[in-house]
Amino acid sequence: MSRTPFLAGNWKMYKTGAEAVSFIEAAKPLLAGVSGRQAAVAVPFTAIAEAAKAAQGSGVLIGAQNVYWEKEGAYTGEISVGMLKAAGASFVILGHSERRQFFGDTDEWVARKLQAALEGSLVPVVCVGESLAQREANETFAVLGAQLKGSLAGLTADKAATLVVAYEPVWAIGTGKTATAAQAQEVHAFLRGELRNLLGDKAAAETRILYGGSVKPDNVKSLMSEPDIDGALVGGAALKPDSFAQIVKFDV
Ligand code: PGA
Repeated sequence: MSRTPFLAGNWKMYKTGAEAVSFIEAAKPLLAGVSGRQAAVAVPFTAIAEAAKAAQGSGVLIGAQNVYWEKEGAYTGEISVGMLKAAGASFVILGHSERRQFFGDTDEWVARKLQAALEGSLVPVVCVGESLAQREANETFAVLGAQLKGSLAGLTADKAATLVVAYEPVWAIGTGKTATAAQAQEVHAFLRGELRNLLGDKAAAETRILYGGSVKPDNVKSLMSEPDIDGALVGGAALKPDSFAQIVKFDV
């Protein structure tokens, strides 16, 4: 069993295509020769094509932050898996807490988007996370268990090969408050157990579970040293090439 570390930036609503190209050009030499991990950046839709072109040959994957499940049709403002792939995206973030909080994404929608992503060979990064109120009410495991089950509804073990899960405690996103490595590990171990219940031993052993929420160059190493933390999903600290590169090179 080996899970290749996956270090992904989530740019949210930052950077134009030209800014994405500058970032990638600056990051490339910093990442040259780094192996044994997958670096990735989820960029705004409008930057995917330029970013993917700039990233060619660099080993950095370009992805999207959302997708719609239909292939095409009268869905004003939406974007399909096929469109993302054609633009050069190879992965997609699904069910980020900001989507759930501000745009109404539900577990059921995430599950439909997941099916569409897998059918179209786009690697899905499915996000789950509890709020501060839920953590303080001791509901963390119940909330995360339900989110994971709902978001993976309809997924079978044979289709789960490329699945990536991200644990992002809502209280740690953009707040500077990281879960401690031990707190994160506790949840990751729980999520792996839930993956075992839902999809079996193989999927549980092979699925990468990323941690997200105020990951920075100075805390990534201790998070990554936990046995069930297989990568990071990074917002603010992934907007600058040097800090992104330091995160990707967490153990170098
Ligand atoms: P942050 O965001 O690293 O800025 O906390 C993480 C995320 O929302 O994916």
